[in-house]
Amino acid sequence: MRTVLGKIGVLGALLGFAVVPHAVQAKSAKEYRKDYQRPKSVPYPDENKYSKAREELGKTLFFDPRLSSSNWISCATCHNPAFSWGDGLPLATGHGMKILGRRTPTILNLAWGEDALFWDGRSDSLEDQALGPIEAAGEMNLPLDQMEKKLQAIASYKPLFEKAYPKEGITRDTVAKAIATYERGVVSGEAPFDRYVKGDDKAISKAAQRGFVLFNEKARCNICHSGWRFTDDSFHDIGVPGKDLGRGKVLEEASLNHAFKTPTLRNADHRGPFMHDGSEADLAAVIDLYNIGGREKRKTLSKDIKPLGLTKSEQADLIEFLHTLTSEDKPVTVPVMPR
Ligand code: HEC
Ligand code: HEC
Repeated sequence: MRTVLGKIGVLGALLGFAVVPHAVQAKSAKEYRKDYQRPKSVPYPDENKYSKAREELGKTLFFDPRLSSSNWISCATCHNPAFSWGDGLPLATGHGMKILGRRTPTILNLAWGEDALFWDGRSDSLEDQALGPIEAAGEMNLPLDQMEKKLQAIASYKPLFEKAYPKEGITRDTVAKAIATYERGVVSGEAPFDRYVKGDDKAISKAAQRGFVLFNEKARCNICHSGWRFTDDSFHDIGVPGKDLGRGKVLEEASLNHAFKTPTLRNADHRGPFMHDGSEADLAAVIDLYNIGGREKRKTLSKDIKPLGLTKSEQADLIEFLHTLTSEDKPVTVPVMPR
């Protein structure tokens, strides 16, 4: 890149026009840091403001397997904090051990990404999303009127709801709002990369710093994995083979077939296998997919997916960088269930 532009520079000088140098020069790792600063606080919507009582109730519901007809599957069965809020499986397993069509995504940092929930973006708020898996036959398989009756019959849920949503009762709405409040607070903690962004030059290794520059330049990962959450909240076909039409099916728009949401890369190394169908075993496999310009080159393949020509050591540097996005969070405690 530099040499080609360097030659244009010489040519430009010969022909008598100027080439602006700062526009073409590679930046150093430090200069990219400002693009990745974390926000200071979590946004909560006015219709469902934060309170500790709401968050605690939501956490209890999130971990309560009685939200399923089998009394056996909770949200946390699939969104397991021990696997960075995924399940470590290629495809999710739901009611009756049925294997579902897609992999469980993380619920980390969704307070900032509510416009496009699910791999195909078919939901646009955490409240709206929360009841879906409870009633879905393949997931928790509990019709919502039954869920309401079931929770109303558990005596010590009553004061928890009353404290969180006074006079609103135990309803599908208050269940959804409490779960959404809990989810908004599920945020990845400070990672070595965040300390580096804040100015601690030694927080990540030299290899990871090289990987960070590659991420923003030669590998161009930042085109889609942008900002502190490492996602543009948008949808792309990156060449993962398969029949799932993703975003194209939701919008009935053929040009978006096989496009899936850009997942966050925060804490990704706890979450493999990767992609909407769990088809890439580990980070090395993911880098290989990008390096060859996608595994399936369809008409819908993003124009930003092209062979990258990364050497083995550049691939290793990128992986080293991705590891620095993992935070060292305290283990999540599991709440005692109301009886
Ligand atoms: C059987 C496993 C399973 C259970 C149980 C489950 N989920 Fe999920 N969850 C998934 C899968 C799979 C997806 C992705 C589905 C898709 O994109 O079509 C998903 C997607 C989500 C998303 C969207 C994440 C994103 O990045 O867009 C949220 C939020 C979520 N689930 C919350 C919940 C909540 C809250 C519960 C409990 C009420 C729950 N889930 C129960 C498997 C599960
Ligand atoms: C054109 C946009 C785009 C570019 C460029 C891009 N990605 Fe992605 N990335 C995505 C999308 C979309 C997915 C999910 C695709 C799917 O599930 O089918 C994804 C998935 C991933 C995953 C799997 C995460 C998970 O939880 O499953 C990793 C890791 C990843 N990308 C890293 C990278 C790296 C490293 C680069 C640069 C070499 C890169 N991406 C370049 C859009 C992009």
